Amino acid sequence: MHILGIETSCDETAAAVVEDGRLLRSNVVASQVKLHAAYGGVVPEVAARQHLVLLSPVVEQALRDADRGWDDLDAVAVTRGPGLAGALLVGLNFAKAVALARGKALVGVNHMEGHVYANWLLPGVEPQFPLLCLLVSGAHTDLILMRGHGQYRLLGRTRDDAAGEAFDKVARLLGLGYPGGPAIQRAAEGGDSAAFAFPRAMLRSGLDFSFSGLKTAVLRAVERLSGTAVPGGQQSDLSPAAAARRDLAAGLPVADLAASFQRAVVDVLVEKTSRAASRYRARQVAVGGGVAANALLRAELPCRLGGEVLVPPLALCTDNAAMIAACGYYRLTHGQRDGWDLDAAPSLRLA
Ligand code: KG4
Ligand code: ZN
Repeated sequence: MHILGIETSCDETAAAVVEDGRLLRSNVVASQVKLHAAYGGVVPEVAARQHLVLLSPVVEQALRDADRGWDDLDAVAVTRGPGLAGALLVGLNFAKAVALARGKALVGVNHMEGHVYANWLLPGVEPQFPLLCLLVSGAHTDLILMRGHGQYRLLGRTRDDAAGEAFDKVARLLGLGYPGGPAIQRAAEGGDSAAFAFPRAMLRSGLDFSFSGLKTAVLRAVERLSGTAVPGGQQSDLSPAAAARRDLAAGLPVADLAASFQRAVVDVLVEKTSRAASRYRARQVAVGGGVAANALLRAELPCRLGGEVLVPPLALCTDNAAMIAACGYYRLTHGQRDGWDLDAAPSLRLA
């Protein structure tokens, strides 16, 4: 069964072809990062309009790369949420139109479930249940126990900022730009991760996370080191405040701050994942979401948990449509078919 996946929940316009839920035939991602970087974050309307421009050529490219035509496809799987409403609507309407015109089945997919199913695209690996999933993205930090396809139990989640959101906000604070995760990772190279004793919130209590105190601790450290208040943390990167932040950061030990911050986030993620894995006797641990691209997290998890950790390649951690097609396959084979009234669900939850 060949499935065309479509993903437009945020700032990546993506299409992919996956065979039988596991075989990656093509994976095309047109990133809008450069477009949004000037604003220091994703501008929803700009994202939606750019999806409108890019989606059709991206889909054509995915079919060409896969060496497949419309007649070879069985279904179209599309992200229906969570994500930006306008951005989701572009992908959904496109998916409905092609599915209707070409006589294909339509299946709506939860974006976070897609991140889980990126692990089914790893060649030669069969994920084992119970599977503990650590989902770490720009908007989510969830620990989810998966007992079978489509069976999810939420064990822990963030009570405030998501891990990726913390990376993005701290990067902005340090004048490192957007997206924050890769920028912090680069800045941390050569930095001393023990230079600042940043908090590991709720480390020993339960499986929920909290990252807003850590973000504030970095802010306080910057203010202490510079002897001044940090200008306008939430303002766009085109604002005078952003230029002032960059000047201020120029005199700071940015590598040490970035390394200490990154270490604190990774310590908490690894500790809680490890505790959840043993408490729920998970046979394997799978990670997903943009923060799973972080090199320190990718190194530390298998170190702590052994060989039973599945870590998708970078291109399958950040947003992509292959994971949507993979998830769509399991949804379809378990009987899901959506109608032409399928709506976007910007705040859809997985469990
Ligand atoms: O899954 P994703 O691509 O989009 C969402 O569904 O949110 O995740 C994006 C998040 C951003 O916050 C970005 O800063 C973070 O993933 N990210 C990283 C890295 N690459 C992307 N965080 C830490 N280290 C990275 N290397
Ligand atoms: Zn995502």
